[in-house]
Amino acid sequence: MESIIKIDNLCKSYDGKNNVLDGINVNIKKGEWVNIMGPSGSGKTTLLNILSCLDKPTSGSISICGEDITKFNQSQLAEFRRNKIGLIFQQYHLIPYLTSVENVMMAQYFHSAVDEEEAIEALKDVGLGHRLNNIPGHLSGGEQQRVSIARSLINSPEILMADEPTGNLDRKNGTIILDIFKKLHEKGSTIVLVTHDPVIGKMGDRTIEIMDGKIL
Ligand SMILES: Nc1ncnc2c1ncn2[C@@H]1O[C@H](COP(=O)(O)OP(=O)(O)OP(=O)(O)O)[C@@H](O)[C@H]1O
Ligand SMILES: [Mg+2]
Repeated sequence: MESIIKIDNLCKSYDGKNNVLDGINVNIKKGEWVNIMGPSGSGKTTLLNILSCLDKPTSGSISICGEDITKFNQSQLAEFRRNKIGLIFQQYHLIPYLTSVENVMMAQYFHSAVDEEEAIEALKDVGLGHRLNNIPGHLSGGEQQRVSIARSLINSPEILMADEPTGNLDRKNGTIILDIFKKLHEKGSTIVLVTHDPVIGKMGDRTIEIMDGKIL
């Protein structure tokens, strides 16, 4: 099957001396679910930020859906991300003065058109039907994480990139989220998931281990 993500000799240095990512080569096929595991500080979030067009590599190339994203300017990157990628951050980046529903509707607005009913359904799917009108400051960490997951999935992204999406969730809510990911995967989305959880590690098609910025 064709590659949807192709990473060639990717390097990232923040200080111009040390490589946080040091010659990464990965091919991910369309519809594949790939987990990325490795110790804290090994470069997982850095890799995901570059793949999701939030940060630029120091060298190397990345093609996603056949396009070399390292050649895009900022506005092309933003548009590409909006149309193709659903992103679940390690920090949730919710808009503090908007309610749960409004945070989800924001993603609809930037993608296509707002649909409040659909936003409410997405929040119910992650078990937040009773927290629709709370602002993030009045939600627990796990509830904020679930709002951010509903927001990331609202536009049925072709590629989902998630950084420790169940890190703040108990087993019950973690299972709800993983079931949503499974359904998305069954519908053909590609999933790239950073996790420390060995249970999730067993769920994907493949696990990539990263250590000191290198693939093992
Ligand atoms: N903006 C930055 N400027 C300088 N150094 C950074 C920056 N972001 C990350 N680093 C460094 O890059 C290395 C990799 O960080 P990264 O966040 O990718 O690790 P990680 O594998 O996601 O870890 P964790 O499991 O703790 O989330 C770390 O040593 C970190 O200190
Ligand atoms: Mg990280």
